[in-house]
Amino acid sequence: MDTNHIHVIFGASGDLAKRKLIPALYSLYVQNLMPEKFLIVGAARTDISNDGFRELMGESIKKFYRYDDFSKLNEFLKHLFYEKIQYDDINSYQNLSDKLNKFRVDKEINGNSIFYLSTPPSLYDVIPLNLALVGLNNESDGWKRLIIEKPFGYDLYSALKLKEMLLRNWKEEQIFRIDHYLGKETVQNLLVTRFSNGIFEPLWNRNYIHHIEVTSAEKIGVENRGGYYDNIGALRDMIQNHLLQVVGLIAMEPPSSLEPIFIRNEILKVFQSLHPIKIEEVPFVSVRGQYISSYVNDEYVKGYREENNISPESKTETYAALKFYIDNWRWGGVPFYVRTGKRLPTQVTEVVIHFKPTPHFLFSRKNIYEACNKLIIRIQPDEGMLLEIGIKTPGQGFEVQNIDLDFRYSELRNQRIPEAYERLLYDTINGDNTLFARTEEVIAAWKFLTPIIEAWKNNPDIPLYGYPAGTWGPLEANKLFEDKNITWHYPCRNLSDNNSYCEL
Ligand code: BG6
Repeated sequence: MDTNHIHVIFGASGDLAKRKLIPALYSLYVQNLMPEKFLIVGAARTDISNDGFRELMGESIKKFYRYDDFSKLNEFLKHLFYEKIQYDDINSYQNLSDKLNKFRVDKEINGNSIFYLSTPPSLYDVIPLNLALVGLNNESDGWKRLIIEKPFGYDLYSALKLKEMLLRNWKEEQIFRIDHYLGKETVQNLLVTRFSNGIFEPLWNRNYIHHIEVTSAEKIGVENRGGYYDNIGALRDMIQNHLLQVVGLIAMEPPSSLEPIFIRNEILKVFQSLHPIKIEEVPFVSVRGQYISSYVNDEYVKGYREENNISPESKTETYAALKFYIDNWRWGGVPFYVRTGKRLPTQVTEVVIHFKPTPHFLFSRKNIYEACNKLIIRIQPDEGMLLEIGIKTPGQGFEVQNIDLDFRYSELRNQRIPEAYERLLYDTINGDNTLFARTEEVIAAWKFLTPIIEAWKNNPDIPLYGYPAGTWGPLEANKLFEDKNITWHYPCRNLSDNNSYCEL
């Protein structure tokens, strides 16, 4: 397939382009993974020359590219151009189209193009429509791909509207919806762990698994994203997309091949099998919280309502925890617990598979929780896997203690873990949409969460618990577990230091 192309980044002067996209494209270039001929055209409202844009992006690469290899930087920057644009002015798009045509003739590149919308979601209707109006969606002279970032809508209604609006001018195969979690090496490893190891499949079901936890904790607060976050909250920001995608990969059936369509179909089936939560059940299967000020290591940490661009009366949740089920033969009756929050004690994302205890306790154990084997799949940081098993404590009698069999990615020699955006941009260039969200998945995820969104909005009896910054969120989240002996697994930055209230 011809992968030579022009890559247009709308919103090129924004944070995402500077921190992630341009450094990721540079990284692909350094690894000789960019096609022979390519141009990157930054498009935004800022008035800046080609040279000014190159200088700015050069600085970003120096700051955000993770490796110390800038030998190809000047060569790479020669591929960068800039075009000032007014997003709502059709003439701007006509100028862009003329410019792209000129580039194509000069550099002998056919019509292949990627349009990356690194812009606020409010422009997701304007830009694709205007591109289509000037014919930039037309594939007669080469492929055209549109990349959009989450959020894909704000609720079910707006997601359906966005779907309808995009599909009016673009085909589903042309739309690449980025969920950067799917670009993470360790998230992709969920597929490999499950389907390249015969030992897991017989155990990966309701007969052997007691419950499953997915946690994504962040140590940081809302930072400078208050304007966006205060309208979104943790449920929409993390669970609707990233964490449900992780659940999809854990719960899916084996695909019949690695063809994108087969993998995506299996994930979609999981989303469609999520047990619908009734609005009256919401108080019993969900907990929400908001961080309040506290002292962490003797330093004052602001509460959410004191952050920039946050309403002092904001009811937006910065912590969300859910319990739900998947209605199918593999998972019937197995609870899934998913939680996420900002200003928790540490940054960590992981999946914990809790296996059922042995049917008969031969050896003394304090509680059922202690006797469950656990498989921890660490997505970040200290990426790796850990299996917790019981062994005999050396000495008299038959005391049992748990030990860890663990593996860390850092133990692999000479292997660099690519950044999520590298993988996703590479796949877009190569037309592989396995790791992108399909419209039906997005809609199914919104449908599942709608009762929670509505109940949280309309039922004042559902509390929004305050939790001090630097703690693991509201203690009420433990009530989601029916058995008092079971609580959340408390991970630390270091994979093996689990279940302690790790240091802040
Ligand atoms: C983004 C959310 O999608 O993911 C952010 O909007 C969150 O609020 C981020 O901080 C987390 O990503 P990661 O890769 O740091 O886990």
